[in-house]
Amino acid sequence: MKPREIRPGVYWVGAIDWDRRLFDALIPLPDGTSYNSYLLKGSEKTALIDTVDPTMQEVLLNHLGELGVENIDYVVANHAEQDHTGAIPLVLEKYPGAKVVVTPRCKDMLIDLLMIPEERFIAVGDKETILLGGKTLEFIHAPWVHWPETMLTYLREDKILFPCDLFGSHLATTDLYVTDEGQVYEAAKRYYAEIMMPFRTTIQKNLEKIKDYAIDIIAPSHGPMYDKPDFILKAYHSWVFDEPKNIVLLPYISMHGSTYKMVEYFVEALAQRGVTVKQFDLTATDIGKLAMALVDAATVVIGTPTVLAGPHPNVVNAVFLANALRPKLKFVSIIGSYGWGGRAVEQLAAMIPNLKVEILEPVLCKGFPRETDFKVLDDLAETIAEKHREHSFT
Ligand code: FEO
Repeated sequence: MKPREIRPGVYWVGAIDWDRRLFDALIPLPDGTSYNSYLLKGSEKTALIDTVDPTMQEVLLNHLGELGVENIDYVVANHAEQDHTGAIPLVLEKYPGAKVVVTPRCKDMLIDLLMIPEERFIAVGDKETILLGGKTLEFIHAPWVHWPETMLTYLREDKILFPCDLFGSHLATTDLYVTDEGQVYEAAKRYYAEIMMPFRTTIQKNLEKIKDYAIDIIAPSHGPMYDKPDFILKAYHSWVFDEPKNIVLLPYISMHGSTYKMVEYFVEALAQRGVTVKQFDLTATDIGKLAMALVDAATVVIGTPTVLAGPHPNVVNAVFLANALRPKLKFVSIIGSYGWGGRAVEQLAAMIPNLKVEILEPVLCKGFPRETDFKVLDDLAETIAEKHREHSFT
C-alpha cells in the first residue's frame, strides 16, 4: 500500500503484513497485522512516529522516498519492542541527522536491544513537548502499557493520539480507518486479551490520564485507525473496569473419553442453570480465542485427565497462560478423571498465584464417571450458578 495522507502534513507510512501468522513465537495472527508508522511534516522539522518490523523496513524506506523525505529530525519511539523499532537503525543510517525521541527507560532498552549509540537519543519527560513548526508533539509517559518504557504521543494541532500498541489490533487491511466495527472489535479484544490484559490496572490509570485530551483520531501502531475514538475507548473501558459476566470457561483435555464425558455433562448442567459456558478442546483451540474469553468470564473450570501423576501438559500450558494474563476471574475449579491416583489438583492450584480467586471443590472421578460423579457435578454447577447470582454477574 502507498503512503496515505491523514491530515495536511501527516502521513501513514507503515507496512501491512498480510501473511504473518504468529507473533512473539506464541500469539496466533489469524488476520495478519500491520506496523503503522506515521510521518509528520512541520514547517521547520520532520518527525517519524514509530517504525516497522525489521522484516519490512524496506517498505518504510520506500514510502519515505516516495514522499520525497530528504531529512528527518526526530524518530519518536513510543515503545521499544522490535516490531516498532527494528527499522530504526536503518532509518538512522539513511537520515544521519535524526535523533530518537524516547522515555529515559526506552533509551536504555534500545541501547541494549538495537545497539543504537547513546548520542543519537533525546530522552523526554512526561508531558514534555517538541515543536515541528505548526505541529506540537506532546509525550505522555505510560509505563507498563505493556512494557516499562512506553509512552503515547499526542499531536496537539490535529488532535491525533499515537498510542503505539495500546488500542491496537492485529489486523491486515487496506482500510486506513475502521470500517467494519464488528471485525475490529473482535481483533482489538483479542489484542487486548493477549497483550494488555495483564496490565489492566495500569491501563485504568492511563485512561484517566488521557480523558481530558481532545482526540479526533487514535492512530495505533497495529491495525486501522479510529476516526471515532469513542468506539475503542468505550470498549477498553468495559474490558478494564466492568465486572466479569455470568460465563464459565471450560478448557479441557480428554485422553480416553472419561474427562470428556464429565465435560459434556457439566456444560449441560451449567446451561440448565442459566450460565453461559464456553468449551475449549485444548488439543485444537486457538489460544487467542481462549484469551479473549478470559476477558469477561467469572469462572474457569479446568478439565484434565491425570498423566504421570499430574495434569495433562496441554492443560498446564493453558493454566500457565491464564495465570500470566491476570484476568478478572473470581472462581476456579477442576474436573477430570484419574486411573490410580495423582496430584493434578494440588499442582494446578499451585500454578495460579496471580489469580485472586476462590477455588471451588474439584470433582475428580476414578475411571469412567458414574451416577454419583454426575451428582457431584450437579452440585458444583449449582454452586457456580449461585455464586454468579450472589455477585449479580449478568
Ligand atoms: Fe507491537 Fe509490544 O509491540
